[in-house]
Amino acid sequence: MCEPELLLLLLPSILSLILILILTKRKPSRLNLPPGNMGWPFLGETIGYLRPYSATSIGEFMEQHISRYGKIYKSNLFGEPTIVSADAGLNKFILQNEGRLFECSYPRSIGGILGKWSMLVLVGDMHRDMRIISLNFLSHARLRTHLLREVEKHTLLVLSSWKENSPFSAQDEAKKFTFNLMAKHIMSLDPGKSETELLKKEYVTFMKGVVSAPLNFPGTAYRKALKSRSTILKFIEIKMEERILKMEDRGDLEENDLLGWVLKHSDLSTEQILDLILSLLFAGHETSSVAIALAIYFLQGCPNALQQLREEHEGIARAKKQSGETELNWNDYKKMEFTQCVISETLRLGNVVRFLHRKAIKDVTYEGYDIPCGWKVLPVIAAVHLDSSLFDQPQLFNPWRWQIHNGTRGSSSTCPTSNHFVPFGGGPRLCAGSELAKLEMAVFIHYLVINYHWELADMDQAYAFPFVDFPKGLPIRVQNHSFT
Ligand code: HEM
Repeated sequence: MCEPELLLLLLPSILSLILILILTKRKPSRLNLPPGNMGWPFLGETIGYLRPYSATSIGEFMEQHISRYGKIYKSNLFGEPTIVSADAGLNKFILQNEGRLFECSYPRSIGGILGKWSMLVLVGDMHRDMRIISLNFLSHARLRTHLLREVEKHTLLVLSSWKENSPFSAQDEAKKFTFNLMAKHIMSLDPGKSETELLKKEYVTFMKGVVSAPLNFPGTAYRKALKSRSTILKFIEIKMEERILKMEDRGDLEENDLLGWVLKHSDLSTEQILDLILSLLFAGHETSSVAIALAIYFLQGCPNALQQLREEHEGIARAKKQSGETELNWNDYKKMEFTQCVISETLRLGNVVRFLHRKAIKDVTYEGYDIPCGWKVLPVIAAVHLDSSLFDQPQLFNPWRWQIHNGTRGSSSTCPTSNHFVPFGGGPRLCAGSELAKLEMAVFIHYLVINYHWELADMDQAYAFPFVDFPKGLPIRVQNHSFT
């Protein structure tokens, strides 16, 4: 081959090489990425980011990064280049531009365990369809007509089993309550029955894997959780088949639960129904039980709030007694105004969900910073809730900051606004169960404060792992309380 021929043959390769060199040389200088540190190759800064810290703080890693780089910084987390945002404005921008500029993007390990049809990982039309089903099932109308009664029944079932002066884990009790409620609501499983207890046991193993490192080796929590996932799915599938048989027998589905609803009203495949049910069980059980445990913890440390709360609930209970009613109704719930302040403050300070996983699906510019397409973006909602420029003394449990004075909330110039308070996320992926979660917390608090006094039986506090958990399970001791 002569020289010109050889040159011609190599020309495309040479040109591509030059192009790559130009692009890789020019890209960094063209992009105005936020400041930050990309850490070690592949691992990046993930280990530091995930180091446990007190749930009522943002942790040392975040504090140091914000003081060094500001509220928006770049990093390398979960094996990907990432923009971390502790900035209220950017967080809002990210949530509101879901599907346009950003997209939900949970680590692959979460998809592996919750399933590819889980609402938490789905995007686009399929997410919309699943969301409509969930919203329908958790609608305001259902809350009033059906769920309030169920929430009350399951609260009383758990609280009535408590024994005076013998310590127990408040976190486990809260979990029992939310699990029983969801199992009933989703598949009509009755609390205490052997199948419900078996499912609960399997679910505990499953949960340990959801929050563990995604190492699929024999003996790891992740591997065990994948096994539990199959067992749970098999269980749900059997329930589904039983239900279809019943339907064929009687011509209708009598149970008023999610399983019955999806079988009757949707054309989802078996695989899709299984993942939907599993992810709702997960989303609706873990979060609200942690929120209830946090409320129990914060209230025992704030006697004034507890006193005011007790007055509110005793007032409601007294009125019911006088009218001869026994069950709570929607009007009673609406009277729980200070309780709503306690709930908001618990969610603000405790931050059950601390950050969300997103990725940029286009090149985005925000306040002069470039966020390249494909980069992960983590809106850290906890950092906004604990930001001292937005909330007075953010580390303090102060439910009164949510009280309405002359039509506005709070009493200071830095009063919280709904813009900055997003415990349930926002935009098109706003938590589908937010109203149910608040109802569960309010009803649980109602029966807790009118029936019991409580104290910590052992020192414990909430940690962010980053999922929020009380390492000792929040051991408490209760004494009966009766009001006149
Ligand atoms: C205090 C309790 C709760 C908190 C703090 C909470 C928080 C959240 C947050 C922050 C998201 C958004 C996730 C994202 O954007 O990536 C979310 C989504 C979701 N939550 Fe909750 N949640 C709670 C209780 C519940 C309950 C009781 C249910 C009922 C089943 C539920 C069902 C869901 C569902 C289905 C989604 C996915 C929504 C979608 O992708 O469209 N959550 N939750």
